[in-house]
Amino acid sequence: MSAGGAAPIRVGVAGAAGRMGQTVCEAVEGADDMVLAGRADPALGVELDGILADVDVVVDFTRPDTALDNARACVRAGVHAVVGTTGWDPSELAGEAGGGNVFVAPNFAIGAVLMMQFAAQASKYMTKAEIIELHHDQKLDAPSGTAARTADLMEGDVPIHSVRLPGLVAHQEVILGDVGQTLTIRHDSTDRTSFMPGVLLAIRRVGSLTESPLVGLEHLL
Ligand SMILES: NC(=O)c1ccc[n+]([C@@H]2O[C@H](COP(=O)([O-])OP(=O)(O)OC[C@H]3O[C@@H](n4cnc5c(N)ncnc54)[C@H](O)[C@@H]3O)[C@@H](O)[C@H]2O)c1
Repeated sequence: MSAGGAAPIRVGVAGAAGRMGQTVCEAVEGADDMVLAGRADPALGVELDGILADVDVVVDFTRPDTALDNARACVRAGVHAVVGTTGWDPSELAGEAGGGNVFVAPNFAIGAVLMMQFAAQASKYMTKAEIIELHHDQKLDAPSGTAARTADLMEGDVPIHSVRLPGLVAHQEVILGDVGQTLTIRHDSTDRTSFMPGVLLAIRRVGSLTESPLVGLEHLL
């Protein structure tokens, strides 16, 4: 039982052997109101289908080419999904029948959510903007989901430049230009724990969404 006396949320992690998945497993194990009830990952020899009967919520940090199928499998099994995987199109889930809700966030870090909101606001007043996103060199998709989402939220056409280098985690600069001035809004995730408060919040809230799929952590704040 959790501190409040309610049954803990049974959480499964898809991509449990990956960089983000391992951090999510530790965060779930450290939360009083959750229990880590399944770890799916080909690297562990466990398929997602093998854990769905044991969990209330799946957290997916896998690959761009598996996130849609994984989310569909959750919805059909009546399991809620919290998806952090980027590089896929959540609108393809529209009309999917089943009992599970899907929540998607291209970035679970509060600072990144604020960066996107400030950039959207600034783009109403400044003439042009460009985005530089910088990530570790194992990242499969470019541009990043965060950069694509930021550009969507901003006014005008916003070009995106992608940098992939060892030593980086997840970083983004939005540079806005106008007559005789520039404004730079920058966010840095220096550690994957930056995403965990947002992931835990989404796990707690995904079961009570009134809209699914829902995209963006700002809707839960
Ligand atoms: N939304 C966010 O805040 C946020 C933050 C960081 C990373 N990401 C995204 O999360 C994803 C994962 O990033 P990572 O750095 O952890 O990658 P990673 O390569 O370290 O881990 C991915 C894991 O998924 C596993 N996997 C592959 N197919 C699977 C399947 N069908 N079912 C279950 N597991 C499967 C792989 O074996 C691997 O262990 C990427 O899309 C990345 O862009 C999102």
